[in-house]
Amino acid sequence: MSLIDDAARVRENAYAPYSKFKVGAAVKTASGAVFVGCNVENVAYPEGTCAEAGAIAAMIAAGETSIVEVAVIAESPSPVPPCGGCRQKLSEFAQPGARITMTTTAGAQQEMAVAELLPGAFDASHMDQV
Ligand code: THU
Repeated sequence: MSLIDDAARVRENAYAPYSKFKVGAAVKTASGAVFVGCNVENVAYPEGTCAEAGAIAAMIAAGETSIVEVAVIAESPSPVPPCGGCRQKLSEFAQPGARITMTTTAGAQQEMAVAELLPGAFDASHMDQV
């Protein structure tokens, strides 16, 4: 099963009663393990979390930190890129060259590298004086 299939499957569980926009995400780590997440909304809207954030949280909870590949899927006219906050979250754990495949449920697909999604990222090097 591909990483996109994993993302599509977890998307079924997305809790998005407010936006009705279900998203699934899957991250593969250097060990070959796959972690999945879906968006989880809340009646207090800002408390919702993105699919990518859920997948990253599952990875961290399992004791892993190194993402080598990402897949995101949603029902949309065009492939949905991670939001700004998720770009920052992904850049914390993925190598700059790690591929992100964005897919629609209809099959449209786009690939980008993590570094392309967040050029000039704020990273740990900026805190060397701390
Ligand atoms: N969403 C994600 O889960 N990932 C993305 O990459 C884009 C947006 C979610 C957040 C919210 O639940 C819904 O999609 C609409 O913004």
